[in-house]
Amino acid sequence: MTHIHYQHDELYIEDVPARRLAEQFETPLYVYSQGAIETAYKTFCSAFQQHPMLVCYAVKANSNLAVLGLLAHLGAGFDIVSGGELERVLRAGGKAAKIVFSGVGKQDWEIIKALEAGIACFNVESAMELEQIQRLASSLDYIAPISLRVNPDVDAKTHPYISTGLRENKFGVSMAAASSLYEQAQGLSHIKIKGIDCHIGSQITELAPFMDAMTRVLALVDELALLGIELEHIDLGGGLGVRYANETPVDIREYAAAILQGMGHRPQTLVFEPGRYLTANAGVLLTRVINIKENEGKYFAITDAGMNDLIRPALYQAWQHITAVQANNGEPRLYEVVGPICETGDFLGKARELAIAPGSLLAVHSAGAYGFAMSSNYNSRNRAAEVMVAGATSQCVRQRETIEDQLRLEHGYVALA
Ligand code: LLP
Repeated sequence: MTHIHYQHDELYIEDVPARRLAEQFETPLYVYSQGAIETAYKTFCSAFQQHPMLVCYAVKANSNLAVLGLLAHLGAGFDIVSGGELERVLRAGGKAAKIVFSGVGKQDWEIIKALEAGIACFNVESAMELEQIQRLASSLDYIAPISLRVNPDVDAKTHPYISTGLRENKFGVSMAAASSLYEQAQGLSHIKIKGIDCHIGSQITELAPFMDAMTRVLALVDELALLGIELEHIDLGGGLGVRYANETPVDIREYAAAILQGMGHRPQTLVFEPGRYLTANAGVLLTRVINIKENEGKYFAITDAGMNDLIRPALYQAWQHITAVQANNGEPRLYEVVGPICETGDFLGKARELAIAPGSLLAVHSAGAYGFAMSSNYNSRNRAAEVMVAGATSQCVRQRETIEDQLRLEHGYVALA
């Protein structure tokens, strides 16, 4: 049985009816299943059990402290992209020694904070960043562990906004420049080469792009070995797709088998940076239908969640399954499910068959990754609350914001003379 399921025509998150959560915590509400996150993490790890490996969860996908704390408890490492994410991981009990730091624009204060914390590795994206880390590490007398993030120039065949491994993207060091940059790094006093890294994109549903990237990375690993540069780990990034609609994502065992076969007898620890795989299908966004409106024969279900709560449909034309929390709540019709925000792009789904009435509850599925994490206060809306469910228990892990929370950092303007 999946953790998010229907029983007697009613949606449950583990053993808790979604309706009860919506009544208790109000809507819009993000709900996560602890069991689903745990299962995804364990499934990922067990697929690689014959080889040394570390899963560094991509914090950006869902950075709630409860999610991070759960993964830390399970033994995960973390892939961070900012000083803020570093702080979150440390506060959630994550181990610095299992943190990798990705991102094209690391600022001095973020690098210093990571050096002081003692993270496992900086994934360096350019020659300039290498110099920046060397300069900061030497001034503070730290040895900075690094990987180069290489850009293997493969087409991940995903949405252009979330494709990162093509030559023309801003990410990584080109394959042509990588080995001389490694040689340069080897000569730097406060740099310790640890590994190599690549990440080619997100929501990838085919095996081939991963394998093409890996083949190129391994060729470089072997070339570096001939130059006397031995790496301790190979980080293959994240990007494993999940099922939103009717995609057939790569099976994790197939992915692992292909990677392990590709590794051959190479001893390096494998590092992965999955985000979506671990959390997307562990979460739903619950929202209430405020109103039903007909315009020129078209029906709109206007919900209390909008693009500020879940921006994926508006930003990537992403399709996420939408169901009525309690079935048969009205005449079945095709609806545009839209939010209350003043933009035509404010929709959660188009042409969805639903049997609903004003007041009905809807669940937007696969919302555990890049859902709350990408939400905003647009239209001065309070960001949603978040709840974690484990078995029959539920816990609020982020309170709903209030207008006071939003206004706290602002100051009334005093007109200058
Ligand atoms: N590692 C790096 C360096 C990344 O940039 C990303 C995602 C990941 C790991 C995790 O990728 P995942 O396993 O989750 O695919 N907001 C978009 C996705 C953006 C992904 C950005 N980078 C969406 O909602 O589809």
